[in-house]
Amino acid sequence: MHNVRRDEFIKGSAALGTALCCGSCTAETEPTQEVEHYFRYAENQSETYPTTVAAYYFAALVETRSEGRIKIIVYPAAALGDESSVIEQVQLGMIDFARVSLGALCQFIPFLNVLQLPFLYENAAHMWRVLDGEIGDACLSVLSDYNLCGMSWYDAGARSFYTTKNPIETLEDLAGLHIRVQEASLISDMITALGAQPTTLVFDEVYASLQSEEIDGAENNFPSYDSMEHYKVAPYFCEDEHIRIPEIQLISKTSLAKLSESDQIMMLAAAQESAIYERTLWAERETTSRETVIKGGAVVYPLPAAERARFVDAVTPLYKTYCGEDLDLIAAIQAQA
Ligand code: GCU
Repeated sequence: MHNVRRDEFIKGSAALGTALCCGSCTAETEPTQEVEHYFRYAENQSETYPTTVAAYYFAALVETRSEGRIKIIVYPAAALGDESSVIEQVQLGMIDFARVSLGALCQFIPFLNVLQLPFLYENAAHMWRVLDGEIGDACLSVLSDYNLCGMSWYDAGARSFYTTKNPIETLEDLAGLHIRVQEASLISDMITALGAQPTTLVFDEVYASLQSEEIDGAENNFPSYDSMEHYKVAPYFCEDEHIRIPEIQLISKTSLAKLSESDQIMMLAAAQESAIYERTLWAERETTSRETVIKGGAVVYPLPAAERARFVDAVTPLYKTYCGEDLDLIAAIQAQA
């Protein structure tokens, strides 16, 4: 399906106009035909989170353009399970769609680690040049070997460390701290390389573990830090931006095969459009979440450049460990800075 070109995806958007969705509705037009397909879409973020709102938008586009023949029900807040189990179920065709973190997906498709190496991208624009270009498309097409189809990239900003008791101001401050990580070997090893101890936990267990002091900190972007209220229990947020882990919108190839070719093209176009929408929502939410956590008492501070350079040195060996066969590809990614 990746032969469907990006400009074809975009073409369809004009036809729809502005069927933006509030989050709980499904489509703006009344279905004119029988529902042929009910699909389930898994999302582990809350109702109002940018990725979830974009998922509702995607569902509305598909329902509208199929004139009600295709109905996608979005299940937010991990109602269909944590990310790893959702990915397995999408592979088996038991769940049709999901939006997942690339971190989780890399456990199934290690090659994709090449897109989430720590300190790989200079900034958001650099990451988007890569993901929107040939490298991003080629990486999406790899999913096909895993009974998955990667429909689009969603933004998840940059992740930084936050801690419960003391701020992290130097590399030494991380020594021995228990830091929560996603189920992702690269991220675990990154924590170890920085001198801390990784604790693997699913996303919705992080708040309780911070509160009970089972862990000393975690790492994530501003919108997650805000929406999961981690700032209330881990108020020291060091804006080190050590990693950018994009999100990916998936469909099971089993579910895709149930659709006609024209519906497949229409659906992939809708996914691409929802991704563009998500990026706008993301940019807004990053700003408002930053303000919310500061108002709520979080101490947000930068990591000095000299210290950041020490973080970079500590994690650079992971490039070879995880992506030793793809050093040329890493160089091509870096060249797009
Ligand atoms: C981000 C991402 C989630 C992921 C989470 C995590 O918030 O959007 O999908 O589960 O990171 O750290 O587990």
